[in-house]
Amino acid sequence: MSEPLIRLEGVKKAYHTAAGDFPALRGIDLEIESGEFVALLGRSGAGKSTLINLMTGIDRPTAGNVVIDGQAIHQMSEAQITRWRGRQVGVIFQSFQLMPMLTCAQNVMLPMDFANLYRTPKAQYASALELLAAVEIREHADKLPSAVSGGQRQRVAIARAMANEPVLIAADEPTGSLDSRTADAVFALFSQLVAAGKTVFMATHDRELASRVTRVIRIEDGELVDDERQPSATTHPPRGEPHVEMAHA
Ligand SMILES: Nc1ncnc2c1ncn2[C@@H]1O[C@H](COP(=O)(O)OP(=O)(O)OP(=O)(O)O)[C@@H](O)[C@H]1O
Ligand SMILES: [Mg+2]
Repeated sequence: MSEPLIRLEGVKKAYHTAAGDFPALRGIDLEIESGEFVALLGRSGAGKSTLINLMTGIDRPTAGNVVIDGQAIHQMSEAQITRWRGRQVGVIFQSFQLMPMLTCAQNVMLPMDFANLYRTPKAQYASALELLAAVEIREHADKLPSAVSGGQRQRVAIARAMANEPVLIAADEPTGSLDSRTADAVFALFSQLVAAGKTVFMATHDRELASRVTRVIRIEDGELVDDERQPSATTHPPRGEPHVEMAHA
């Protein structure tokens, strides 16, 4: 068998707090193949964001191995992790993390520099507009994040995560602020990326969306308790009528 894209072995994460160490992940073993569309379900506080932070190198495990595309992330220096993430990963944070002084389009252009994509600012801007169009907010491209709605900010964050043409998209409740039709458009976008060979790992509370991915993983109190493959899931019809044109598929 080929090497999986993501391999977590005995991954533990304890947060140090005044009240003592809190074990947020208690030993996660997980393999994800390239091209999978994975939904991570679990109650608030179960460890979803913690798991996403570890597999994107945003945080480090207390114990265990995190190997992505053959690279041992947990052994890299901060500089190596940052460079690796800039080239390989698109992260959609639960709290969006947009730069407040940059316009929506400039936020989307930011990762292109890190990934050495699109040399000229004009080409970057054109590509940013395409990505914003794919999440249906092209008309807000030149506004600051503070001047658009929460759901629109979330979509800027999604567009930004695509900007470096990542092999892995890790999304932390990417549709949490979206109405069902817009969530469908985002889902369609992710499905297109998966069809183009990318891997999407998405924490979500949306059971309906989760029923349409290829694999559902459930986490409870820092432990994986369920792992179900749904091979034909993405052929289910969407709820609304999303219109998505992909820039980089
Ligand atoms: N920086 C931190 N310091 C201490 N404890 C933390 C920290 N971050 C998370 N935790 C704790 O670790 C556990 C897992 O948190 P995590 O954010 O991974 O949950 P989650 O599944 O993403 O929840 P939600 O659905 O609410 O986003 C929680 O009990 C949380 O309180
Ligand atoms: Mg979370």
